[in-house]
Amino acid sequence: MTQDELKQAVARAALNYVVEGKLVGVGTGSTARLFIEALAGMKDRIAGAVASSEDTQRRLEGHGIRVFDLNDITELPVYIDGADEINVEMHMIKGGGGALTREKIVSAVATKFVCIADGSKLVEVLGKFPLPVEVIPMARAHVARELTRLGGIPLVREGFITDNGNLILDVKGLQIVDPVDLETRINQIVGVVSNGLFAHRPADVCLIGTSQGVQTLKAD
Ligand code: 5RP
Repeated sequence: MTQDELKQAVARAALNYVVEGKLVGVGTGSTARLFIEALAGMKDRIAGAVASSEDTQRRLEGHGIRVFDLNDITELPVYIDGADEINVEMHMIKGGGGALTREKIVSAVATKFVCIADGSKLVEVLGKFPLPVEVIPMARAHVARELTRLGGIPLVREGFITDNGNLILDVKGLQIVDPVDLETRINQIVGVVSNGLFAHRPADVCLIGTSQGVQTLKAD
């Protein structure tokens, strides 16, 4: 199976976690886009969606799915999104699409986080994929120096501005043995809006696409 077929399979499998009559939080990226297409087939059975990016909002609305402002809701049973890397503890690197901050906010509100990913995303140690860090523009050089002190090699994502009007630094060279600790340390750098480590709020379930079928990993 191709990587796209594996993504397609997990996107479809994620429909089983959508709660009928309720809202669903929707992530960003190519796997999330396939999930949106699958979700369109059951749009009359959900109350609507909450989007993690402008792109996702446009796509949901394009399918006639009502998109709610996160501030106007009190309950979000499930958030469904892809990942750039995930380990068996369900810690993730996200933000390859630059939507990490809104993804983190929506997933913080959700009761359950369902990660959908092809098998290539499952890793033993996080960090081969450069860690995205969203930064206030005037703090770019300061944050880059601090990330270098933490052992990383930060590079500005050229020509990219987030939905929140900020920059992304992609940090190479990190072997992330303690994702919870590193997430905290990076968040403490002044000028960082958020970073792509999802360890304090890991996924609850991960649907992994393999040539043998969709495997389900669950948090202990
Ligand atoms: C976007 C993300 C995506 O979930 C992540 O980059 C995975 O993307 P894809 O499904 O295209 O492999 O975090 O900010």
